[in-house]
Amino acid sequence: MPNKMNNKNNPSQSTSTIWGGRFKAGPSAVMEEINASIGFDQRLYAQDIRGSRAHARMLAAQGIITEADAKAILQGLDQIEGEIKAGGFTFSRTLEDIHMNVETRLREIVGDAAGRLHTARSRNDQVATDVKLWVRDAIDGLDGALKDLQIALIDRAEEHAGSVMPGFTHLQAAQPVTLGHYLLAYVEMIGRDRSRLKDCRARLNECPLGAAALAGTSFPIDREQTAAALGFDGPTRNSLDSVSDRDFALEYLSVLSILGVHLSRLAEEMVLWTSVQFGFMRVSDDFSTGSSIMPQKRNPDAAELVRGKAGRVFGALMGLLTVMKGLPLTYGKDMQEDKEPLFDASDTMELCVSAMTGMIKSATYHVDRMKLDAGKGFATATDLADWLVRVLAMPFRDAHHVTGALVKLAEDKGVGLEGLTLADMHSVNAGITKDVFAVLGVENSVSSRTSFGGTAPANVRAAVRQARERVVQ
Ligand code: ARG
Repeated sequence: MPNKMNNKNNPSQSTSTIWGGRFKAGPSAVMEEINASIGFDQRLYAQDIRGSRAHARMLAAQGIITEADAKAILQGLDQIEGEIKAGGFTFSRTLEDIHMNVETRLREIVGDAAGRLHTARSRNDQVATDVKLWVRDAIDGLDGALKDLQIALIDRAEEHAGSVMPGFTHLQAAQPVTLGHYLLAYVEMIGRDRSRLKDCRARLNECPLGAAALAGTSFPIDREQTAAALGFDGPTRNSLDSVSDRDFALEYLSVLSILGVHLSRLAEEMVLWTSVQFGFMRVSDDFSTGSSIMPQKRNPDAAELVRGKAGRVFGALMGLLTVMKGLPLTYGKDMQEDKEPLFDASDTMELCVSAMTGMIKSATYHVDRMKLDAGKGFATATDLADWLVRVLAMPFRDAHHVTGALVKLAEDKGVGLEGLTLADMHSVNAGITKDVFAVLGVENSVSSRTSFGGTAPANVRAAVRQARERVVQ
């Protein structure tokens, strides 16, 4: 059962129930609508309650509230958490946000003790703490999903350590590579994304709770205690910065954006590779769609959506950067605009990562077609030039020139390099021997690329083992 939402402006409300004496009248309907965040920040309920528990325990330990009040507060918070989880909680827009909704319900349940929970705290340090806890949880979840994606890529790389495909620069056939090597390139990218997530997590892990509204508090609070209780490395050092900082949200969105770049490149290649023109790959039925008019079509919609959704994540980053720029210290209500892009971008990337993992796991690679294409476009020309350098001791620049002439000759004859006769070769350079034909095959080409980080199947097998060790540990 979903929680209920009470969106109606309460006409019987002549004074503000939340601001008490200072206001004669409640907000207008429009004011309530623009001001309220409960529609989206209810997602912070678990983090909000976690923060309140830590705060209440600390207040009691410091003698700021009584043990009895703390006990009542903790029991009330347990009950509220149960109500929200079970879907039996009515969120009220009149109460603006998750903080006021929880506190107001707490007062209904435990009475006056509830009013003591907000001692030495403000919604400003509260929301900063809640959002940090939320981002931290999101990072942990996403990191697990990225690990699964890496494992899927490594499994397929192992399977295709020796499968030859064309490698491209400028999307022109460049040199033959192995499919395993190609897949491991994405393992590297995702590895950097995970390392960025880890950095972001480490940097955000300081607790703003206790900064209060902006200046700290006159109560003898123990910020070390609340920080430790919430799994932070320690408290933030400057109260003004604590309530006005959203770097961690920006940083997380930046990390998501770079991840979006990576996934969109992989997605784009899936779109290309599944086309009839490439014919390198087939996405499984459960990740493809058909066309309502063209019966032959198999569309890689999931890949296209991953490619497209990256744009939405960049938008979230740009949106929040723009909200934060030029904001005077400290908290401004503008900052309430942090949540929707944050939640949306995080959900979006989690979905994209799952879709990618599913597609990689179930894809069929047409290795025969890839191998055939790997030899097209004079892709072994560099191997020929290298042979001239190695065997005939030619300077590389000269070898490049001779190879260029041979490519031109082959092109004129309408054959590949391996289709040239020895006599053809001799018309360009008399020193060439029949041994040259050995390097013109794509298998030989990839096998010779044994330099560290190169594409040779033996390298790929070793790289798979090392990647698995790094990722699975
Ligand atoms: N809903 C607010 C937000 O998301 C909470 C903080 C409000 N603080 C305040 N002083 N009005 O930013």
